[in-house]
Amino acid sequence: MSHLIAPSLLSADFGNLKKEIEMVNMSQADWFHLDVMDGVFVPNISFGFPVIHFINKYAKKPLDVHLMIIQPERYIKEFKKAGADILTVHYEAVTHLHRTVHAIKNEEMKAGVVLNPHTNVFLLEDIILDLDLVLIMSVNPGFGGQSFIENTYSKIGKLKELILKKNAKTLIEVDGGVNLSNAESLIKSGADILVAGNAVFKSDNPVETIRKLKDFQS
Ligand code: DX5
Ligand code: ZN
Repeated sequence: MSHLIAPSLLSADFGNLKKEIEMVNMSQADWFHLDVMDGVFVPNISFGFPVIHFINKYAKKPLDVHLMIIQPERYIKEFKKAGADILTVHYEAVTHLHRTVHAIKNEEMKAGVVLNPHTNVFLLEDIILDLDLVLIMSVNPGFGGQSFIENTYSKIGKLKELILKKNAKTLIEVDGGVNLSNAESLIKSGADILVAGNAVFKSDNPVETIRKLKDFQS
């Protein structure tokens, strides 16, 4: 499978959201990445159901919804209703991860677990076969535009090892500080999906930046 690109709308111009969505629609991007923050799990608040609902109305590609909230299990059905296709929850925010992952799948969404930079990938050993994807945070979650943490490469390698050992089909997604300088190395290290916020939306030509991110070969 060639890698996927998921522009993060957190860095988009919210005053022109419809235009930004249309730009992603006509680009080579594969998914929309939506960051939901509650001001408790992370020190920032982003957007919730009405905005996701609106994005879903205009988006012609799957919505990859990254929940940076405590007790995400309370809202699984609501996110489905709002239009989420892929729902990822943080390992650090969920007590009964197995139950939560299966509740997401029962709503016919793809289920993923997100790891903060300090969380060891081997903690997923007993759940990896249940996961459609694992999202490795390459910054501390909460804000766009932060610098990439270099230890991410080693985490991708360890996760790939675990996936192969278990013969799992899990995809590896990387989120935070991804740009045109590190994208190729990330893909070569085993990343299947790259999230990019600032690198896309703050560039002079977002469509062209997405094309370049998509063109790198593994
Ligand atoms: C950070 C979010 C990211 C963020 C990425 O908490 O999860 O998705 O929007 O933005 P950049 O690519 O600018 O680091
Ligand atoms: Zn994200």
